[in-house]
Amino acid sequence: MIPSLSPSLRPSKRTRCNLVLVIRGLIALAAISSTLSSQESRPVNAGNPSTIEDFRAVDASREPYQRATDVVAALGVSRGDWVADVGAGAGYYSLRLADLAGAEGRVFAEDISTSGWLNARVKAFNLHNVEVVKGEVDDPKLPADRLAAVLIVDSYHHFTNYTAMLDKIRHALKPGGRLVIADYSFIEHRSQARADQLKLHEIDSALVRAEVEQAGLQVVRCEDPFVKWRPGVGNTRASATDLWLMVAVRPQ
Ligand SMILES: C[S@@+](CC[C@H](N)C(=O)[O-])C[C@H]1O[C@@H](n2cnc3c(N)ncnc32)[C@H](O)[C@@H]1O
Repeated sequence: MIPSLSPSLRPSKRTRCNLVLVIRGLIALAAISSTLSSQESRPVNAGNPSTIEDFRAVDASREPYQRATDVVAALGVSRGDWVADVGAGAGYYSLRLADLAGAEGRVFAEDISTSGWLNARVKAFNLHNVEVVKGEVDDPKLPADRLAAVLIVDSYHHFTNYTAMLDKIRHALKPGGRLVIADYSFIEHRSQARADQLKLHEIDSALVRAEVEQAGLQVVRCEDPFVKWRPGVGNTRASATDLWLMVAVRPQ
């Protein structure tokens, strides 16, 4: 038989209420700490990025290997501008442009293959001012006469119809708008035919300069090399090849 407590030893109604509140608080704290610790323990997944942390891990090599801040500075983007990242890939530069153009601006993240990574980045970073555009090999499908700047990083050498691409990009820029191209070339490969350079995922800046001028754009700057190749963790280039950077303007 269980002895009942004498009335003087029984907890008062108020004490019981306080006890219930304390227990509920402890349960809530346990739930919060287990959620936090499961978030903390999720390993960063750079192989299949979906969170801001994943993308930060993927993006970490951009400054040392491409001088990314200097690349975007060459575009001269102001808040409210409409700009495009042509051959956007996983959208690293679209993200940088979204920050520069601001909420009142617009970024067209264009690629012929709008990968899951590009859409995942737009979602993870909540990029309201970025529009993903699926282009064609000969048409980036950009608005005409409207863009302050167009960026092409590590993509120009992929353009199978570069003449049509440059023509459409010139039409998309407003007069005075800037085109910045950054791509790879190693001095020892420059004597090779254009097609052979492309097989190495490289293209001589002198070839591109001639093509850009042929398209009616005015080259105002060419830094070659812009970044000297060096081996190391995070370098996506297996063999020696330097990065060059070119800035061209649509004449007024
Ligand atoms: C090496 S990735 C570079 C991606 C990105 N710019 C970066 O720096 O991470 C080259 C990209 O160019 C895209 N591409 C190839 N030809 C293209 C074209 N004609 N128009 C637009 N994108 C193209 C490919 O689908 C690929 O995503």
